[in-house]
Amino acid sequence: MPTFDLYANDPGASHWQVPASGDARFSWEYDDGRDRLLALYQKGKDKQWDGLKRIDWDLEVDPHDPLGTPEEAMTLYGTPYWDRMTDRDKGELRRHFASWQFSQFLHGEQGAMICAARIVESAPDLDAKFYSATQTMDEARHAEIYGRFLHEKIGMVYPINDNLRSLLGDTLRDSRWDMPYLGMQVLIEGLALAAFGMIRDTTNKPLPRQILAYVMQDEARHVAFGRMALRDYYRQLTDAELREREEFVIEGCYLMRDRLRGVEVLENFGIPRAEAEQLSERSEFLQLFRRLLFSRIVPCVRDIGLWGKRLQQAYVDMGVLELGDSSLDLLMAQDEEIAEKLDAERFAAEEKERVAEVQEAIEAGQDAGD
Ligand SMILES: [Fe+2]
Ligand SMILES: [Fe+2]
Repeated sequence: MPTFDLYANDPGASHWQVPASGDARFSWEYDDGRDRLLALYQKGKDKQWDGLKRIDWDLEVDPHDPLGTPEEAMTLYGTPYWDRMTDRDKGELRRHFASWQFSQFLHGEQGAMICAARIVESAPDLDAKFYSATQTMDEARHAEIYGRFLHEKIGMVYPINDNLRSLLGDTLRDSRWDMPYLGMQVLIEGLALAAFGMIRDTTNKPLPRQILAYVMQDEARHVAFGRMALRDYYRQLTDAELREREEFVIEGCYLMRDRLRGVEVLENFGIPRAEAEQLSERSEFLQLFRRLLFSRIVPCVRDIGLWGKRLQQAYVDMGVLELGDSSLDLLMAQDEEIAEKLDAERFAAEEKERVAEVQEAIEAGQDAGD
C-alpha cells in the first residue's frame, strides 16, 4: 500500500529537497588506509544481514498494543483525558504513539543513509569512503525494516517531526565535511540509539525486540566510526573552530530534548498544542526518558574532544553531565552481545522444534510399521 495512504497527518510534498554544498572528493591513493578504519570496513562487510531472513516477520503484532507499553508510561496517564478514555481510545493512542516513534526512526534511518552517502562523497580518504559505503547499505536495510514494520504491523505512518527535520537540514546544508558526522552520527544517531535501547530493553513483544536488537548491533559500528574520524580531526582544529562545533551540539541537544516528544500525537487526540506540551513536560516517564536519551551522546562528545566549559554547563543544566563518565565501549559491546544472544536463543528454540518434529516422524513411522 502506498505510504501516502497511511500518513496520520499530511506530510506535504512527496519529496524534500535539500540543496547540496561542498565538494565531491576523489582520492588516487588506494593503498594507504588506517588499520582501524579498514578493520571496521571489514567488519561492516562481514556483518551484513538480511532483514527479510533474520527477522521473523510471521510474528503477530497487535497494532493497538505493539510494544506492551504499561499504562503509567503513557503521557496522558493520570490526567482527566486518560480517565475519560475508553479502552478502545487507549488502544488507538498506543497505536499513534508507536507509529509516531517508529516513523521518526524510519525517517531518521533515511537521513542516516543520505548522510552516509554524503560522507562517501566528501570524505578525503579512501578508507573512510569504503567504510561509509558499508554504512550506507546498513542504513538502507534499517529503513527497509522500519518501513515494513510500519506498513505491515502498525498500518499508520507519521510525517517527520519538524525539529528533527530542521536538525537534519542543518546537518546536510553545512559544507564542512565533518558536520554530517557530528549532526548525524553523534547527535541524531546517538539519540536514536538511546531510544532504540530503551524500547529494546523494556518491550515484551518479540518482533520489535528483534528489530531493535539487530539494528543496534550495526549501530555500534557506526558510533565507532564517528568517534574515530572526529577524534582525529578535532585534534587539529583551533579553539574557535571547536567552539563552533560545540555550539552546534548545544543547540541540537536542546532542540531534541524539548521538541521531540510526540506532541503531534496528542494534538490528533484533540488536545491543544500548548496543553500537550505542558502535559509532556510534566510526565514523569518522559522526564526519565529525556535524561536517558543523552546516555549515548554525552560520553561521545566528550570522547571526540568537544568538552569545553559552555558545553559542560549546558549538560549541567540538562542534568546529564555525569553521563559523560559512562563507557561507550561497554555500551556498544553490550549491544552486540544482546543481538548475538537473541540469535542463540532463537536458534536453540528452532533446533528443539526440529528435533521434536523428527522424533514425531520416527514414532509415526514406527506406528505405521507395527
Ligand atoms: Fe541505522
Ligand atoms: Fe547508523
